[in-house]
Amino acid sequence: MVVLSLVGALLTLSSVGARVFTDPQQVANETYDFIVIGAGVGGSVVANRLTETSARVLMIEAGVFQAGINEDIPFFGPLLAPNVGPWDWNYTIVPQVALNNRTFPYPRGRLLGGSSSLNYMVYNTASRDYFDLVANITNDEGWTWDSLVPYMMKAQRFTPPADRHNISGEFIPAVTGFSGNVLVSLPGYATELDPRVLETTSQLEGYPYNEDMNSGDQIGIGWVYSSIGGTIPKRSSSASAYLIPASDRYNLDVLIQTQVTKVFNTGLNGSQALFTGVQFSAGPDQPVYNLTASKEVILSAGSIGTPQILMLSGIGDASDLAQVGVESTVNIPDVGKTLQDHPLLPNQFFVNSNNTWEAAKRNATLAEEQLALYNSTGTGPLVDTVCNHIGWLRIPDNSSIWETAPDPTFGGPTYAHYELVFSNGFVGPIQATPDEGAFMTVISNLVSPVSRGFVKLNSSSPWDSPLIDPAFLKEDIDFLMMREAFKSAVNFVTAPAWKDYLIGPFGTVNATTDEEIEEHIRSITTTVWHPMSSAAMGNGTWGTASSNLTVLGVSGLRIVDGSVLPIIPPAHTEAPVYIIAERAADIIKASWGL
Ligand SMILES: Cc1cc2nc3c(=O)[nH]c(=O)nc-3n(C[C@H](O)[C@H](O)[C@H](O)COP(=O)(O)OP(=O)(O)OC[C@H]3O[C@@H](n4cnc5c(N)ncnc54)[C@H](O)[C@@H]3O)c2cc1C
Ligand SMILES: *[C@@H]1O[C@H](CO)[C@@H](O)[C@H](O)[C@H]1NC(C)=O
Ligand SMILES: *[C@@H]1O[C@H](CO)[C@@H](O)[C@H](O)[C@H]1NC(C)=O
Ligand SMILES: *[C@@H]1O[C@H](CO)[C@@H](O)[C@H](O)[C@H]1NC(C)=O
Ligand SMILES: *[C@@H]1O[C@H](CO)[C@@H](O)[C@H](O)[C@H]1NC(C)=O
Ligand SMILES: *[C@@H]1O[C@H](CO)[C@@H](O)[C@H](O)[C@H]1NC(C)=O
Ligand SMILES: *[C@@H]1O[C@H](CO)[C@@H](O)[C@H](O)[C@H]1NC(C)=O
Ligand SMILES: *[C@@H]1O[C@H](CO)[C@@H](O)[C@H](O)[C@H]1NC(C)=O
Ligand SMILES: *[C@@H]1O[C@H](CO)[C@@H](O)[C@H](O)[C@H]1NC(C)=O
Ligand SMILES: *[C@@H]1O[C@H](CO)[C@@H](O)[C@H](O)[C@H]1NC(C)=O
Ligand SMILES: *[C@@H]1O[C@H](CO)[C@@H](O)[C@H](O)[C@H]1NC(C)=O
Ligand SMILES: *[C@@H]1O[C@H](CO)[C@@H](O)[C@H](O)[C@H]1NC(C)=O
Ligand SMILES: *[C@@H]1O[C@H](CO)[C@@H](O)[C@H](O)[C@H]1NC(C)=O
Repeated sequence: MVVLSLVGALLTLSSVGARVFTDPQQVANETYDFIVIGAGVGGSVVANRLTETSARVLMIEAGVFQAGINEDIPFFGPLLAPNVGPWDWNYTIVPQVALNNRTFPYPRGRLLGGSSSLNYMVYNTASRDYFDLVANITNDEGWTWDSLVPYMMKAQRFTPPADRHNISGEFIPAVTGFSGNVLVSLPGYATELDPRVLETTSQLEGYPYNEDMNSGDQIGIGWVYSSIGGTIPKRSSSASAYLIPASDRYNLDVLIQTQVTKVFNTGLNGSQALFTGVQFSAGPDQPVYNLTASKEVILSAGSIGTPQILMLSGIGDASDLAQVGVESTVNIPDVGKTLQDHPLLPNQFFVNSNNTWEAAKRNATLAEEQLALYNSTGTGPLVDTVCNHIGWLRIPDNSSIWETAPDPTFGGPTYAHYELVFSNGFVGPIQATPDEGAFMTVISNLVSPVSRGFVKLNSSSPWDSPLIDPAFLKEDIDFLMMREAFKSAVNFVTAPAWKDYLIGPFGTVNATTDEEIEEHIRSITTTVWHPMSSAAMGNGTWGTASSNLTVLGVSGLRIVDGSVLPIIPPAHTEAPVYIIAERAADIIKASWGL
């Protein structure tokens, strides 16, 4: 009997297989080996792998079961966030000093699958030089690219694209996983941009074609992998890829619509405080429950939730906590203070086409036809996410910007400084789509930022959103790198391939002087929604966690989510979290002899 199903109607309780509870009282008298906090990418992987053993696992998720029908249709990803339903945490970031003091919404998934259930599904494994730097910082060989390749293979299951076109030359089978959990595929609906992007790689210097950007060498322009698959192609979230396949396991319980309010000290393990207690509640006016894990507690609440829970538990900077009236239990000054994110700059151009996204946006009949086509045959424009090609590029080693600050990639030849994303329509998170005109967008994303911001408590209440500052472009070198990324986007469309197609820049994309470019960047830049590294493994002198992911100075508490990577990956961040969570599960199994 399938008791854990993505179809909300089949949500039932049973003594056979995994159980889904909505009332915390239903688990109050149970005993568990592990309590996993958060059902997002990190939590789903760990819950699945630990229940392969005989261990009993409780997963506690604040959010709802599913987002709605739009959740599954790949192209509708952008409709799920920000702040449009109970499946989003509805955060807003503090004013961004380097972005003209602007503030904007900061979506995070609050449902089974976490942010993988409302994200845009781009699936990148980052690069060899990135993971080797993680290993270098943490002084742990287990985090090198070579050590992680088996976990990359374990996470992904390559499936054919929706239109079943010949994909020879669009990816390298030898570096791809075919038997893992997350369905991944290549774009399955051709757009008018595709041949032009590809021609540009041979017409201009500096934009080489990359046959497979997930091979360890990400540099160049190529076809995008996304976490989409199936006969009717659907989103493959951590819920569908890791929780549903565990639905027949008696040793997994999932408690939803329940927020963890803190973890607490349950005694001593040797000289270290043991933090295996978890406190949770269904709402500010609801009863509070305590449970103790007999082995350990895994924090997988994501880059905002994990530091928030640590700080609510008194684990953080003691003087910051005193300011909001939280009693300090373990003084770890870096908790929350190492947050990083990728700034996103959309650059739109008018194009000579009737086949951009704008067509269906302005014609309800066409939109219905596309939906019906998707629904009946699994083909058409709705099968893909927001881009067919992306590119990863380096700023040259001899660029004058490195005279002002060191290269954050240490010259690593496979490690990108910025990303270009090619979208067949108007993308502008803080701009309304114009009523007229057809568009393409070349997005510039800064993927190796050095700026670090913070997640801080706003009050001692677990029901208050924390203060979030991703510190976009705070360090001057980040602004200088973004300026190179903008110039590169504009240069890309000067290739002969765009003649007769591209009409001209939209709005301040026409910037040419340094002053105009600066104003364009500071007034339009937003985010790729990739908060990471806020409760990070450090190098021994900074950080929140050890290289084995345990919270420093305490026992029984581990972090498995995007918050724990010491630096933000040069990649869309879901795959890196799947990969480190697969290894984390093996570390946990090894440490308990499971
Ligand atoms: C709009 C958007 C678009 C994105 N697009 C992409 C993309 O195209 N490609 C890509 O690779 N990445 C993308 N990302 C980022 C990617 O989804 C995340 O990096 C990834 O999901 C992080 O995994 P995680 O396990 O750290 O956290 P999450 O997946 O966010 O999971 C955290 C979970 O913990 C729960 N939680 C938090 N606090 C508590 C609490 N106190 N008690 C109980 N539960 C709690 C949350 O509800 C959530 O379910 C996008 C993100 C967003 C928001
Ligand atoms: C849990 O145990 C307590 C104390 O033994 C009891 O009062 C309560 O009814 C039990 N709750 C459930 C849901 O079984
Ligand atoms: C989201 O937060 C804003 C304040 O930032 C608030 O006005 C709004 O009501 C919230 N929306 C939901 C759905 O909670
Ligand atoms: C942003 O706010 C800070 C602090 O309030 C202020 O000093 C600064 O001048 C502002 N910057 C802009 C561009 O308005
Ligand atoms: C890697 O570690 C070594 C030794 O700890 C150090 O000398 C070197 O600078 C590090 N390299 C990078 C890129 O951090
Ligand atoms: C796919 O394309 C490759 C390279 O062009 C070719 O060698 C191969 O035969 C094609 N496969 C099919 C099934 O047509
Ligand atoms: C839960 O544990 C805390 C200790 O952190 C204790 O103060 C509280 O009384 C407990 N609550 C219940 C309902 O057992
Ligand atoms: C777009 O459609 C209009 C009206 O049918 C037509 O005149 C025009 O040539 C088309 N443009 C392109 C680029 O196909
Ligand atoms: C809207 O789309 C329908 C279906 O493709 C098409 O027949 C119709 O001509 C379109 N209307 C306009 C105004 O372009
Ligand atoms: C999708 O197809 C099913 C039947 O296969 C039908 O019941 C449903 O209404 C269709 N939905 C849409 C949006 O077309
Ligand atoms: C660039 O675009 C802006 C905004 O549309 C406009 O105000 C400005 O005049 C344009 N500059 C040039 C040189 O065309
Ligand atoms: C750890 O990182 C800090 C900050 O980057 C640096 O100052 C320190 O030397 C590093 N320590 C070790 C042991 O590598
Ligand atoms: C990490 O955990 C494993 C498994 O318990 C153990 O063998 C290893 O020594 C630990 N490494 C560190 C750096 O603590």
